[in-house]
Formats: sequence, C-alpha cells, structure tokens
Amino acid sequence: VSLKPYNTFGIDVTTRYWVEVNQEDDIQTLLQLSEFVDTPKLILGGGSNVLLCHDFNGLVVKMSIKGIDIVREDDDHIYLKAGAGVNWHELVRFCVQRNYAGMENLSLIPGTVGAAPMQNIGAYGVELEQVFESLTAVHILTGEKHTFTHADCAFGYRESIFKRALKGQYIITSVTFQLNKQPIFHTRYGAIQETLTEMGVSDDALTIKAISEAVIHIRRSKLPDPAQIGNAGSFFKNPELPKEQFDALKSAYPALPGYPLGNDIVKVPAGWLIEQSGWKGYRSGDAGVHAKQALVLVNYGNATGNDIIALAKQIQQSVADKFGVEISPEVNVV
Ligand code: EPU
Repeated sequence: VSLKPYNTFGIDVTTRYWVEVNQEDDIQTLLQLSEFVDTPKLILGGGSNVLLCHDFNGLVVKMSIKGIDIVREDDDHIYLKAGAGVNWHELVRFCVQRNYAGMENLSLIPGTVGAAPMQNIGAYGVELEQVFESLTAVHILTGEKHTFTHADCAFGYRESIFKRALKGQYIITSVTFQLNKQPIFHTRYGAIQETLTEMGVSDDALTIKAISEAVIHIRRSKLPDPAQIGNAGSFFKNPELPKEQFDALKSAYPALPGYPLGNDIVKVPAGWLIEQSGWKGYRSGDAGVHAKQALVLVNYGNATGNDIIALAKQIQQSVADKFGVEISPEVNVV
C-alpha cells in the first residue's frame, strides 16, 4: 500500500500492512491477530507531522475514530470528548460556532485530534494543554485501556510523554477538552491584533469567531497548503537559548528576535536564523524551503524523505556555523 495519500509531505513510500480503525474495539481485535503481534506498528492520524524516509515493513494503523460529544458542563466550562480521528480544524469549528472558547487560536492546524496531544500542538500564543482535560489510550501490546490526566502527559513545548518515555507504546483513542463559557482572548501574538484591525474588528466587538478568522487569514498567507505543496508545517522547533548566549548573539545581530520565557531562557525563531542563513525560497530538485516561511520544508512533487533530511542537515549545519545554535526537528522522522 502506498502511503503517499496519508502523509501531508506527500512522500511516496509503502507499508506492508495497512488498516483503518473506526472504533475502539477494532484495536483490541487487531492487537490479538497473531500476524500483528510482533510486527512493528506505526500509528497515523492526519500524517501531518511525519517524514517517512523508507518503506515500512510493518503495520500502519490509520486512526479514524469519529465523534464529538458534550460529556458534561459546569458553571464555567463545557467538556467535549472527541474521537482520535476527528479532523482538528473540524473540532475547532464545532467550538467556535457554539461559542465554546479556548481553541480559536489553534484554527486550521492540519491533523487529527489523536495526534494533537503527542506534540502539544500550539500556535499564536495558545497550546493544546490549555484546553486539555484528559485522554484515553490503548496499550499497544496488552490492549489495556488507560486514562491520562493533564499531569500524566508531561506537556512541554511541542513535547509530551508520548514523544518521550511512552514513545510508541500507546494508541490514543479519544481526547476530552475543557472549553470556557467566558472567552479569554489571546491577541498579543504576532500579527493577530494587526489583522483584527484590518478586518475592522474593534476591541469591544472582539469575538472568538473573529480571532479564528484572523488566525486562518494569517496561516493562509504564510503557510503552504499541503493539498498543493507537500509539507508538515514547521520542520524545526524554535531553539531556547540561555540568556547570556542570546545577549551575545543579539549584540552581533541586533535584529535577532527573542521571546523571554523566564528562568533566563530566551526562545528564538528558527525561521529567522534559517532565513538569515540564506535558505528562504531555496530549492534543490523537489526539496525546498518555503518562500514565505523559512521554518517550513516543502516537497514540490517527487522528493524522497531522504532528500528532505539531506536538506534539513545542510540547514542545521549552516545555522550552527553562522550562529552557533543547534536547531532540532519538530516533525517525527520515521
Ligand atoms: N521569521 C523570519 N523568517 C521566516 C520565518 C519567521 O524572520 O521565514 C521570524 C520573524 O521574526 C517572525 C518570527 O520568526 O516574527 C515568528 O514567526 P511566526 O509567527 O511565523 O512563527 P514561528 O515561530 O516561525 C511558530 C510555530 C508554528 C505556529 C507559529 C504561530 C514552532 C516550531 N512553530 O512558528 O507552528 O503556527 O509559531 O504561532 O513553534 C507547526 O508547529 O507546524 C507550526 C506551523
């Protein structure tokens, strides 16, 4: 089976076995089948955060469990449970339409609900963990069901326990979110305020719908649509530097942007470092660096995973040579 339609980078590799899971019980059945017990497994949601580098000699499990349900409600919150296979933006739209607040800044992120906690997706000043209540998952060997609380997930910047200690061990089946009845608007990040002003939205007329529209507008203007050009969003994470290192770099490069995180750590946009190293808009064969966002690597058609990796290594090397800063991949390289 070709995996090309199942990864947004559009990499054409194959898998030995492929199965689509539409309900939780399917997983139990699947895990008991003798031919799959010892087979390596790869769990795919929307395939929007992976780079596939070779044919997979195992079982790809495509998670398609659907459904969005309101599970409970209190004075301040609405709790929603969504199946792992629900499209992320469909869930955001469900919330925005009903005025359930908290996810509007996360509009238009590609991928599925089940993949979202893995890397604690984030954008425009909000991270998934701010609306996360709990998740259910099935152990890949024992088939046992487990509920993970917020604390259990050990969320960090594009991090969770599912990328670290529990990597490859659980299949996330559903996620429960806590949304606010009273919105808390996050408009300070990047161009949101500016875009709202352009849209003619004044502060006292602000709604979560307006924020969602502003975010959609900004994302469409900078980020390539995977349906047109293969990509997996940001390829690298933004590096976090000790303040002394940041200050030294800043005196050499006064235009260097930086966001203090507290604890004498400053986060620096990798896109800036890559652009300044001359890579923005670069293309070699079908592998390239997006012309409007240097943090995004793209596949113009027939690039292989290894073409993308080779380009990523060159970029890492040149950023290290110029700035002495190491940047590491944000996507899962398989
Ligand atoms: N910049 C440049 N050149 C570039 C790109 C960025 O100079 O080519 C500088 C600019 O100074 C800009 C700053 O970087 O002001 C920040 O850029 P942007 O707002 O586009 O965000 P980012 O830091 O590049 C992060 C996330 C994105 C998320 C945006 C918005 C990571 C790894 N990426 O990118 O997430 O959409 O912020 O919140 O943290 C993703 O994870 O796939 C993703 C797209």
